[in-house]
Amino acid sequence: MSSPDFLRHDFKIIHGYPMVYAFTFNWERIEQFQCRPEDIWIITYPKSGTTWMSEIMDLIKNDGFAEKQKNIPITERIPMLESAAPGILPTSTDVLEKLPSPRFVKSHLPIPLLPKNFWESNCKVIYVARNAKDVAVSYYHFDRMNKFHPDPGTFAEYLEKFMSGNVSYGHWHEHVISWWEKKKDHPILYLFYEDIKEDPKREIKKVMQFLGKKFDEETLDRIVQHTSFESMKDNLMVNYKSLPTSLMDHNISPFMRKGIAGDWKNYFTVAQNEKFDADYEKKMSGTTLKFRTEI
Ligand code: A3P
Repeated sequence: MSSPDFLRHDFKIIHGYPMVYAFTFNWERIEQFQCRPEDIWIITYPKSGTTWMSEIMDLIKNDGFAEKQKNIPITERIPMLESAAPGILPTSTDVLEKLPSPRFVKSHLPIPLLPKNFWESNCKVIYVARNAKDVAVSYYHFDRMNKFHPDPGTFAEYLEKFMSGNVSYGHWHEHVISWWEKKKDHPILYLFYEDIKEDPKREIKKVMQFLGKKFDEETLDRIVQHTSFESMKDNLMVNYKSLPTSLMDHNISPFMRKGIAGDWKNYFTVAQNEKFDADYEKKMSGTTLKFRTEI
């Protein structure tokens, strides 16, 4: 693997899942990663509000003070386990190994790809899910601007790939359902993007409770304000604008794009929506998991 090969490269299949090519370097490092019981994980299917929740969690951990958050990029404060691109990006497993406990770990991994000792470590997990239609739209724009992903083609082409699970990390429905099931026997706080958007304070309180923290109203208000879309859009420590445009081109589409629920309505044709709904019904039958596609 040499650096330029990473860009716009096809996915590599890892145990049946399409994976960002750069991340597949020495995959054993993921399988052998040593999880610790004190670790707290933020796990999502991509484009579901991971960066948003990461910033919320980090502020809660630091009692609502935003000093550290003003100077250190979120990718360093909460490294993404699978992230790697030798010669371009640090290998997160190496970074995480050196972090003191309690660590925050970000990941998009589906359950079968988790490190071998993940479940026995019994670490806490915050899982954020977002409705499939908005994820598809957000992922499409992300693949346009993020050169580590293959070119997504037109939205119509991309939607077909999304429905067939031919996108990084595979099928959306498998991800959200399998993590939903796991919360029966593991400490998982399962949250929804749409709920956080609707009432951030209510949802942030759930995260505080899960992390064993209590704050006064003023601190809580500060966390809500600091993690609003408007604040995060202009915050260089979370908006990924510090990466070179050769890797992420915000002129094509900013990482902090719209930050709303229901944007899919601006993209799906009536025919695409009907096809998507029919496919969705089949794949989501038999689960108690329900989503809102607008608020
Ligand atoms: P859009 O592309 O729909 O705007 P992730 O961090 O998992 O990659 O998710 C990115 C999505 O979350 C993007 O969605 C981004 O704009 C949105 N997002 C990030 N911060 C947000 C915030 N504070 N409030 C609402 N949405 C946010």
